Amino acid sequence: MLSPHKQLSPFWFLLLLFLWSISIFMVESTCKKGCPLALGSFYVWPGANITFIAQVLGTTTGDVLSYNPSVPDKDRVQSGSRVNVPFSCDCLNDGQFLGHMFEYRVQKGDTYIRVAQTYYSDLTTASWIQKFNSFPATNIPENSIVNVPVNCSCGSSDIDKSYGLFLTYPLRAEDSLSSIAQYSNSTPSLLQSYNPNVNFSAGTGIVFIPAKDKTGQYPPLPSSAGLSGVVIAVISVAVVAVVIILAILFVRMRRKRMKKASIILGKPEEVLPRSVYGSSHNASSMDAGNMGVTVDKSVEFSYEELAQATENFSMANKIGSGGFGDVFYAELRGEKAAVKKMDMQASKEFLAELKVLTRVHHLNLVRLIGYCVEECLFLVYEFIENGNLSQHLRGSGKDPLTWPTRVQIALDSARGLEYIHEHTVPVYIHRDIKSANILIDKSCHAKVADFGLTKLTEVGNNSAPTRLVGTFGYMPPEYAQYGEVSPKVDVYAFGVVLYELISAKAAVVKQNFSGPDSKGLVGMFEVVLKQNDQNEIRKLVDPRLGDDYPIDSVCKVAQLAYKCTQEDPHLRPSMRSVVVNLMTLSSTTGEWDTGAYYESHLAKVRSTH
Ligand SMILES: Nc1ncnc2c1ncn2[C@@H]1O[C@H](COP(=O)(O)OP(=O)(O)O)[C@@H](O)[C@H]1O
Ligand SMILES: *[C@@H]1O[C@H](CO)[C@@H](O)[C@H](O)[C@H]1NC(C)=O
Ligand SMILES: *[C@@H]1O[C@H](CO)[C@@H](O)[C@H](O)[C@H]1NC(C)=O
Ligand SMILES: *[C@@H]1O[C@H](CO)[C@@H](O)[C@H](O)[C@H]1NC(C)=O
Ligand SMILES: [Mg+2]
Repeated sequence: MLSPHKQLSPFWFLLLLFLWSISIFMVESTCKKGCPLALGSFYVWPGANITFIAQVLGTTTGDVLSYNPSVPDKDRVQSGSRVNVPFSCDCLNDGQFLGHMFEYRVQKGDTYIRVAQTYYSDLTTASWIQKFNSFPATNIPENSIVNVPVNCSCGSSDIDKSYGLFLTYPLRAEDSLSSIAQYSNSTPSLLQSYNPNVNFSAGTGIVFIPAKDKTGQYPPLPSSAGLSGVVIAVISVAVVAVVIILAILFVRMRRKRMKKASIILGKPEEVLPRSVYGSSHNASSMDAGNMGVTVDKSVEFSYEELAQATENFSMANKIGSGGFGDVFYAELRGEKAAVKKMDMQASKEFLAELKVLTRVHHLNLVRLIGYCVEECLFLVYEFIENGNLSQHLRGSGKDPLTWPTRVQIALDSARGLEYIHEHTVPVYIHRDIKSANILIDKSCHAKVADFGLTKLTEVGNNSAPTRLVGTFGYMPPEYAQYGEVSPKVDVYAFGVVLYELISAKAAVVKQNFSGPDSKGLVGMFEVVLKQNDQNEIRKLVDPRLGDDYPIDSVCKVAQLAYKCTQEDPHLRPSMRSVVVNLMTLSSTTGEWDTGAYYESHLAKVRSTH
């Protein structure tokens, strides 16, 4: 058994946060703030008109016209001319670049290339758009919203304070440095200094050039820039000082070989004093009757210890990989463990997972043993012997799961989800439920894993738009299209997993992207379920089950999956009612005695307590 350490040290956590913010500051920060106005030069292609341009660039025709005095009215714009369109120039992605994130609603057949070249008239590029969207380039779902970044400039007091408004100008074959200098009433050398290393005759790419405002003037930079320069300098000095102090502290800590640090995440008042729980690491929180929050403290491991336990992260020890890192088998302090190795960039996911799993405990959620933040970010879990569900359904070398086992796995994972949805404060939403994130233990019970994308929600406060994350094929329409996050996002994904349990097919059926199966597993089942014909359903059942399944039970699971994957989130059941539904099913589906399993587990917990 692992013994917890009595001493709580927020040091590692602070250091981690600090390194993270420093890395943003040093590596990524190219802007600190944006400016309220920039312009985009839209090359009017035949068929485009001011109404259309105003719509895709998120403004009004009146506003567009006010920056283009030479265009008489919205219905008379010449194709082949350029129209200047206003937008705000924001400091995006934690200070990585200046730009505006437009939102474009996809129509049938649209590709990133078409969006960039045609709709946004080369103000951006397909590859730049693709960085901000999770849809595959070959199959952007119709009607979904695509983020379209358009770069911009706010000027620079180092170059010339007399220019404060800039036009993002896509270069075309007919352009040259001298023609653009004339167009923008400036000099070639000034343009070149705003656009270092740009060949103005290249015919592609964007440049930033000074532009006139509504009144026809070239507005200067706002004058407060000098003051903010001082403020920034002061902040930089302070940051450097703190870094040095922390570095000294860090070296000292290393000397003392402080392996026994532990971590607290979140506000101190949310954390219970762990020492009262005595020496048993996991006992206190596993009580199924305890439906409140439980806070647990993880053990911190040293890098050397993890490297040794995984034979230096050897390929032979690798048992999995996913979106955020590789997972290795480890023998750690006499216990079998799984170690997830993530690089420093994944700190968001690392912290999310650490946060959830140190606070929430349940038999059907994978248990976190500890973590390590040396060299890379590591999470250490209990080892789950039988791998993930996707491997069982579609991998080779595993015996096919029997039908009662499948129902059991469904019930177990539903219980895990119900727990985070309904019995924790705050409530969590997993956001990446899929068969690869459901692990199977040696007695064929399931545990939900991979909390890297988990989102904490306060009920009723769901207005902030969020980064779209998750896995294609498991995302419900309201989330894929509008980014709406609610527990019903997990219910939908769970429904897809139910279909997988029945059919062993992947959530996205790959062969026929444009064919009748292009809707994926959900669409395939919907067609069949609407026919209400048991024989048709039989055709979808995993062939590896043979005839060894009760068709009634399969139909009931399919019906349940159907309810879970309703398009309208309000029509989907809660995880609680899914659990009730599956419990009824599993009690009639065979030899499984779940009660005994839970009883024996509780007995084990009590005896270690
Ligand atoms: N505790 C564990 N025991 C056994 N295998 C695991 C464990 N955790 C993860 N794995 C394996 O590693 C894979 C990836 O793990 P996951 O936590 O989903 O990482 P990612 O965030 O990279 O997707 C899983 O699909 C599973 O096969
Ligand atoms: C404006 O352009 C769009 C897109 O090309 C087109 O659908 C629409 O009919 C046009 N409107 C007018 C008034 O020409
Ligand atoms: C926008 O700016 C970023 C960061 O400077 C750059 O990587 C990217 O290529 C630019 N996009 C376009 C379309 O020029
Ligand atoms: C700029 O691009 C044009 C067209 O590709 C090319 O002819 C010219 O030599 C380039 N100039 C420089 C300085 O690279
Ligand atoms: Mg995963």
